[in-house]
Amino acid sequence: MALYIIGLGLHDQKDITLKGLELIKKSDEVFIEYYTSKLACSIKELEELYGKKVNIADRKFIEILSDEKIVKPALEKNISVLVIGDPFSATTHIDLMQRAKKTGVHVEIVNNASVLNAVGITGLELYKFGKVTSIPFGNENIKTPIDVFNINKNVGMHTLFLLDLNPKENKYMTINEAITYLIKNGVDENLTAIGLAELGSNSAIIKSATLKKLKDLIFDKFPQCLIIPGNLHFMEEEMLEYYQVK
Ligand SMILES: C[S@@+](CC[C@H](N)C(=O)[O-])C[C@H]1O[C@@H](n2cnc3c(N)ncnc32)[C@H](O)[C@@H]1O
Repeated sequence: MALYIIGLGLHDQKDITLKGLELIKKSDEVFIEYYTSKLACSIKELEELYGKKVNIADRKFIEILSDEKIVKPALEKNISVLVIGDPFSATTHIDLMQRAKKTGVHVEIVNNASVLNAVGITGLELYKFGKVTSIPFGNENIKTPIDVFNINKNVGMHTLFLLDLNPKENKYMTINEAITYLIKNGVDENLTAIGLAELGSNSAIIKSATLKKLKDLIFDKFPQCLIIPGNLHFMEEEMLEYYQVK
């Protein structure tokens, strides 16, 4: 009997690892955390590949009801919780693991790709990213992303901005909205940035230009994120040219 916390990777049903798939197949119940990111496939497509019913768990379910619905039942059954991307990257599932361990539940983790390492496709050194920050909806009075950007910029680090989403309402912040927020809050529109959409898929969109120019480009895939690079090594510069909008 166990709780399996399984990363699904970034794009569709096929990004699961063999290890993750084996654990799902021996699970009595399967939940998917469906509020912090988005897959490009339907729940039905997941169910067809896994051969199991996949129940959607929203934030309330994971944060409030999970003791009753996930942790305690995992003392007597095998329960899988599926997380888009990696279970511990830019998400808070460490709390679920801690509660399960305290309750005496055996926990197994299956890691997978995350947005945090997929941005390596830009050629920017992952070691040179500073603090990651999220731009939330309703950001009129929110300054944290700007503060984080300034701290990173002062030490030459790259900044990754994650953009808010609400999959239940099919609402995803766009790169264009994020740039509008940044410029409105004093970020120089002539800085070079990189917009990234639907990483992990063959049709991922990656474009580099000044914030001013990037703001008017079309990114019609989701989810999306944005990077403002810090100091660039010539190898990083060369790779960015590849994504440069002419
Ligand atoms: C809270 S993070 C999700 C973390 C997830 N557990 C992971 O490991 O990737 C969600 C945010 O990351 C960004 N993101 C996630 N997947 C992405 C992708 N495939 N392409 C571009 N951005 C992505 C978006 O800004 C999205 O709102």
